[in-house]
Amino acid sequence: MCGIVGYIGFRKAYPILIEGLRRLEYRGYDSAGIALLENGKLDVYKQVGKVLDLEASIPKKEFAQTLGIAHTRWATHGAATQDNAHPHYSYSKDIAVVHNGIIENFMLLKRRLIALGYEFRSDTDTEVIVNLIESERKAGKVSLEKAVNRALQQLHGAYALAVLSKTEPEKLIVARKGSPLAIGLGKSYEEFFVASDAIPIIEYTQDLIYLNDNEVALLEKGKKVVVKDIFGKLKNYKIKHIDLDMNMVTKGAYEHFMLKEIFEQPETLSNTIFSHLDEKKDKIYFEGLESLKQQLIDANRIVIVACGTSWHSGLIGEYLIEELARVLVEVEYASEFRYRKPIIHKGDIVLAISQSGETADTLAALRYSKEQGAITFAICNVYGSSMAREADFVAYTYAGVEIGVASTKAFTAQVAVLSLLAITMGLENKQLDEKRGKELMTSLRMLPEMVAKTLEQDAAIQQIAKNFLEITSFLYLGRGINFPIALEGALKLKEISYIHAEGYPAAEMKHGPIAMIDENLPTLIVGTNKEYYEKIVSNAQEVKARKGTVVAVVSAGDRELSDMADYVFEVPEIADCLQPIITSIPLHLFSYHIAVMKGCNVDQPRNLAKSVTVE
Ligand code: AGP
Repeated sequence: MCGIVGYIGFRKAYPILIEGLRRLEYRGYDSAGIALLENGKLDVYKQVGKVLDLEASIPKKEFAQTLGIAHTRWATHGAATQDNAHPHYSYSKDIAVVHNGIIENFMLLKRRLIALGYEFRSDTDTEVIVNLIESERKAGKVSLEKAVNRALQQLHGAYALAVLSKTEPEKLIVARKGSPLAIGLGKSYEEFFVASDAIPIIEYTQDLIYLNDNEVALLEKGKKVVVKDIFGKLKNYKIKHIDLDMNMVTKGAYEHFMLKEIFEQPETLSNTIFSHLDEKKDKIYFEGLESLKQQLIDANRIVIVACGTSWHSGLIGEYLIEELARVLVEVEYASEFRYRKPIIHKGDIVLAISQSGETADTLAALRYSKEQGAITFAICNVYGSSMAREADFVAYTYAGVEIGVASTKAFTAQVAVLSLLAITMGLENKQLDEKRGKELMTSLRMLPEMVAKTLEQDAAIQQIAKNFLEITSFLYLGRGINFPIALEGALKLKEISYIHAEGYPAAEMKHGPIAMIDENLPTLIVGTNKEYYEKIVSNAQEVKARKGTVVAVVSAGDRELSDMADYVFEVPEIADCLQPIITSIPLHLFSYHIAVMKGCNVDQPRNLAKSVTVE
């Protein structure tokens, strides 16, 4: 899931493009490159590694060009090599392209182009796109836009593209299908900014156009943006005003975005909760839900589709909605759901959960469900993202921009929205009594403060983390609504410290994993839920009986489990169904400190990217 940036205007393009790449680096950091065009001269620089490596490899000189494109790569087709780095030239070196996505029929197209005498410098699918554009332009003696359209009509797969050509140096052409692309409008069309999301653009303008699938935009200085579909038919577009500020995309005083985002949670939870829950009156409000409320209340079942950490939120949503609204919930890995041809009944509610709103499998699962007649809901964090625009109803988490690849504040905000949705459904279908509903709303209002209290343990958690720098595997256990938290804690440790970890329902331990337990395999037990407390204490005893080390997350004032555990994270007490938001905090901090002390790059873990926009 690469990041692409483009600029055409009156300013020097180089600094805008390099800074844009830095802001998009969370989308992929295998290689980076830039192409600058002026007076028919195209300068291309590319380097394996990070944007810093690219900058270091570029000769120190003034770049006056006011038109350029750039790319930061997450390798799909072809290893992370210099040749496979973007931008890619056409055979004649007249056209350059940067691309985010995957072209599935690229081998077929490549063979055709080779038969026409084209030679290739890389193993990428992207080089096929740029040569296809060149061959269409040559064959048809047509303009760059026409050639781009003709090429796009032959592509199967996903793309966000930016194209420029030496022979048509006053144009920047961009196109999208599947992968996200935003266009930033400068004053009176004097300049345009292009990027995979709003983050590289908001410094210059907050008026954006989000391209839809199969749309191509022509950007020329001083002229209105022209959007057409890939067959050349003119398309209308909406300009969205994005309310983001630069503080949201800088680390501030924090060493890492991940730590900043963990410590932002009192504020982000407050923003999310009070965007939907009245500060004083026990009223929950979701913009745009009114027209669909009856379908939600009458729904026989809700199918939640998501990936990764968002899938863990979905699992918590299942516990919440089934407990508070007594409505059947099924939680699906979006990647499996979309190909399993699942049975969707007309009127079913399918809820897609996604921080980015762009994850390819979740987006496809949402689109499939829509085609099958389901009512589609989305919980997203990125304003104007594809899922937010395509779902029948969207509830935003107001967690702000999340840059750290490991999702933290967006996760707790997703769980807060799911709690509010479950309470709304329970009160509407009378499965939840008013009194309990009010109690839960009161607890939700106290959550930001409780999270702030939990964060005070950061230093103590760091001390405990020091004891686990040499371990190679970790077992995480939880019961009931804390089982998904065990999964989430394990995922965080895996993705940022590269230590193998497994989350398991605590009772399942006896059916296999207990065989692994000895003095070298520590077990983290989430033991805060009152309902299963005795059972979770027995699980801890079973681990201790096999000389296993126990790290326990307990509620304030806990005795039994704390006395038995080797290390303890204590969190404020709250209603069982709202615990996941609190218990996730020490787990995120624990994995963060282990990873930092092991010298891992927590913001950009190897092989990962923030938004998985390809299959
Ligand atoms: C979480 O830390 C990971 N970055 C990853 O599992 C992520 O949750 C997953 O890719 C889903 O992303 P989304 O919420 O943007 O759809």
